[in-house]
Amino acid sequence: MYPDHQSRSHALYERALSVMPGGNSRNTVYFPPYPVYIDRAEGCRVWDVDGVERIDCINNYSALIHGHCHPQIVAALREQAGKLLSVALPTEAEIRLAELVTERMPGVEQVRFANSGTEAVMIAVMAARAATGRNKIAKIEGAYHGSYDAMSVSVYPTPDLWGPEDAPEGVAPAGVYEAARASTIILPANNVEVGRAILRRHADDLAGVIIDPLCKNLGFLQVDGEFLKMLREETSALGAKLIFDEVYSFRMGYNGAQGELGVLPDITAMGKVIGGGLPIGAIGAPGKLMEALFDPRGGAKMSHGGTFNANPMTMVAGVAAMELYDRAAHDRLAGLGERLRSGLRELLRVTGRPGTVTGAASMVGLFHTEEPIKDYRSAVKAMMSEPSLGQRTEAFFRHMLNNGVYMASQGFMVLSTAMTEADIDFILDKAEGALRAFPAEAA
Ligand SMILES: Cc1ncc(COP(=O)(O)O)c(C=O)c1O
Repeated sequence: MYPDHQSRSHALYERALSVMPGGNSRNTVYFPPYPVYIDRAEGCRVWDVDGVERIDCINNYSALIHGHCHPQIVAALREQAGKLLSVALPTEAEIRLAELVTERMPGVEQVRFANSGTEAVMIAVMAARAATGRNKIAKIEGAYHGSYDAMSVSVYPTPDLWGPEDAPEGVAPAGVYEAARASTIILPANNVEVGRAILRRHADDLAGVIIDPLCKNLGFLQVDGEFLKMLREETSALGAKLIFDEVYSFRMGYNGAQGELGVLPDITAMGKVIGGGLPIGAIGAPGKLMEALFDPRGGAKMSHGGTFNANPMTMVAGVAAMELYDRAAHDRLAGLGERLRSGLRELLRVTGRPGTVTGAASMVGLFHTEEPIKDYRSAVKAMMSEPSLGQRTEAFFRHMLNNGVYMASQGFMVLSTAMTEADIDFILDKAEGALRAFPAEAA
């Protein structure tokens, strides 16, 4: 049972505390009182250092589309590790991964690799500035786009600081450069008229708008079609760039979110899945823009380097993962996501517990409230008006953890092709137990 102060995980955490702040290098993998330490994994299962087996329903926050240690990905890595780890010259695998990505993403004719989604977003934002000669980037209030200066603005703003609904303040955590805060414009999600007015107010210096079409940080809140249409129209009319952050939402469709939603961005930031489980980021756009920005043969507007950009280990893992993730694999996985979403909705109905299920394809969110959530502020207001909401989220996570299911402590799940319908039914069975364990007043 977790927590167990006699466990190896607890002992490791105690050891970690003396050499890392809070024993941690990555906030999302910490949960109180201590995180579980993992020893090994295979397919959709992970085993912790105390020998407990769980289904991995987070898949390294989306990166592991095929679960753990897929034999084809491992074979490609073993072969590559015996030949070449990294090198200051290009390899053929880089071209192959670029071909696979550009074939798939309708708005991406050319691509350039980096090492994380954070980097990809950072370069995409700089590219929008370089292409337009302007400074300001608009983002959605509450949206997460990685740990980078300008994009750290208004990820978790509090009501005392967030300002009026029709003119949200940019709220920056400590460490963000003031000019980065001031040049980040905040839009409320899904409010067409307010969004349009804000963009027009900043028209003269607006370099771009960045959007995660299935806003992961807002529990996979789907950006509605009218709002997306407005962003496309306004950015085109104002001469600004529309950036899709598909680091997560690439999973929405075989051709990414842009293929699924039928809206073409000017610039796309990618990461996670396309690296087959190794660190990756990528920025893509039509060829003319990519060449103007990056072509090293001369005249490029930007200078972009990186010791590990397109490193051969990541490239071969990415190639293997993307070749495996064909249309049939995508459709089967999306079907598992639908089975989980509809199963959870049915469980909420039969148990009478409050809840809303969100998400698309292989991404599944569960809010333990029926308050309508349309943007960041409505999510925070739901948390404040229902003090037990946070407790229910934690209790659900803890119950799942103690019953063989590892999901995100924030309340969502991301599936892998290593799963079967029986695995989804196992997760649903445990979810029923978690819901029924809620105190009666939650019912
Ligand atoms: C939408 C989105 N953009 C960017 C990032 C940053 O990617 P990375 O963690 O690879 O830096 C994330 C990470 O979760 C993300 O969810």
